[in-house]
Amino acid sequence: MSTHINDNAKFAKTVLMPGDPIRAKWIAETFLADYEEVTNTRGILGFTGHTKDGREISVMASGMGIPSIGIYSFELFSYYGVENIIRIGTCGSYSEDCHVGDVIIATGASTNSNYGKYFEQRGLKLAPCSDFGLAFKAYQNAQKLGIKVHMGPIYSSDIFYDLDDTFYKIPQQVGILGVEMESYGLFLNAMRLRKKAACLLTVSDSFVHKDEPDMTKEERSNKLVNMVNIALTLAE
Ligand code: HPA
Repeated sequence: MSTHINDNAKFAKTVLMPGDPIRAKWIAETFLADYEEVTNTRGILGFTGHTKDGREISVMASGMGIPSIGIYSFELFSYYGVENIIRIGTCGSYSEDCHVGDVIIATGASTNSNYGKYFEQRGLKLAPCSDFGLAFKAYQNAQKLGIKVHMGPIYSSDIFYDLDDTFYKIPQQVGILGVEMESYGLFLNAMRLRKKAACLLTVSDSFVHKDEPDMTKEERSNKLVNMVNIALTLAE
């Protein structure tokens, strides 16, 4: 049915999307009941199963960066009947208030990417946002679960290893909470295809609190439980 996802893969209406295929597998193994692997093209693993209370849900990796999540989210939305994609990832914090381990719910994404240029014709400038209903539900359910969250704008960068390590002060000055590399592409695809997307992030490193140790590789895989538990409440 599509170029980058197995032909006969069955997906739930709601797909959780971490970047890393191994993290997708860990989420299926740890949080889902009666799940099966539905796709593995190029090692991008996807699983469909149920939450422990019986709601159907899928989890599939996006790979890293806007082009990669652009391809996978487009195909899931266009060819597999998916209505909601919830990115679940890590970010670097630009905010005094957001500490390593905290969860951020993204409201919208700024970028240095040219991905939007194709859609921005005759002076139009798009402002890709999360779906309000999904983001609000995530916020409310986080309160119910007793998990503190920050809600606000984020920055999707094409560059992980920047030449200038002070650049973060620019987005920080306009209140951007943190940096990752995918949400702008996901939110824009949801807009153009009239589907829904949201993004939950766990802070893995801080540009502001330099004394806070970055999450280790192991913690990046395992200390994401709060974020995943919030995301799981969004299954229908
Ligand atoms: N930059 C971009 N993406 C990220 C970062 C970062 O510092 N941390 C986690 N994801």
